[in-house]
Amino acid sequence: MSTFNQIFLITGGSRGLGKGFASAIVQRGGKVIIIDILKEVGEATEKELNEAHPGQCLFYEGDVTDELLMRNIWEDSEKKLDGKISVLVNNAGIYNAADWRKTMNINLISVMQMSYIALEKMNIKNGGSGGTIINVASVAGLAYAKFHEAIPYSVSKSAVVSFTKSLACSNVLENYGVKVAALCPSFSDTQIVKDSALAEYIIKSLNIVPLTVENVANDFIILLEDIYNEKAKNGEIMYVCSKSRYVDVNKFDLHELILPESK
Ligand SMILES: NC(=O)c1ccc[n+]([C@@H]2O[C@H](COP(=O)([O-])OP(=O)(O)OC[C@H]3O[C@@H](n4cnc5c(N)ncnc54)[C@H](O)[C@@H]3O)[C@@H](O)[C@H]2O)c1
Repeated sequence: MSTFNQIFLITGGSRGLGKGFASAIVQRGGKVIIIDILKEVGEATEKELNEAHPGQCLFYEGDVTDELLMRNIWEDSEKKLDGKISVLVNNAGIYNAADWRKTMNINLISVMQMSYIALEKMNIKNGGSGGTIINVASVAGLAYAKFHEAIPYSVSKSAVVSFTKSLACSNVLENYGVKVAALCPSFSDTQIVKDSALAEYIIKSLNIVPLTVENVANDFIILLEDIYNEKAKNGEIMYVCSKSRYVDVNKFDLHELILPESK
């Protein structure tokens, strides 16, 4: 099986980075299941991708916090696409300064829940065929929050980085035939940033040029290729910016983050 001739499940893939990942995958021959709370936007994305690449995209309306629904969608989509999901992309995320519990539930708890479902389904000792889990964390997960309102988002994303590293060293994954990695994009030109006055303020004051969805999708593809070619270690953390690179989170220098960035 080639890197892209597989079935991918992308949470929060109706728009933004998740849509960019979905589009990059179908262009390379892969099939994509998208789960998102945005029904109309998701249906429009499904239509757009299928018009260009017939039969390669399947959209489900769903909230990632609903474990039973996620399990049902996993099983239903495998039946419809007649194959096993081999790559899970935990991409759904929010920036909600007012509701820290909701932020943790979507950005962290659901990522853990989806990953545990994936481990169960992909486990080669359980009749699965192995697979890969890509967690979309953030540059905010590589640094401490410097603004009070950003604490929940930053903590949730740091925990996703920690979860990714922890899964990789738990030495369970190898027995299961599953690999895991995380992407930590810098500020990117999507709705989550447009909806945050703080993000807009940081972008202006640090003179940052936000990454485009295509920039981040290109690095997502590089990460997948590196995993399949075994160039990327299990538990690899990719910092996506003007000079994207794999980082050692234990040695990461916070000053590396405070750079004007452009592509
Ligand atoms: N844009 C950035 O600057 C940036 C930087 C680093 C990391 N990220 C992360 O990238 C991921 C994608 O965000 P984006 O930038 O494309 O923003 P976005 O708001 O365009 O996309 C987020 C998607 O997640 C979906 N979603 C939210 N809650 C959900 C839920 N409960 N169940 C299912 N779907 C849900 C939304 O409907 C949306 O389609 C997020 O995890 C975000 O934290 C974004």
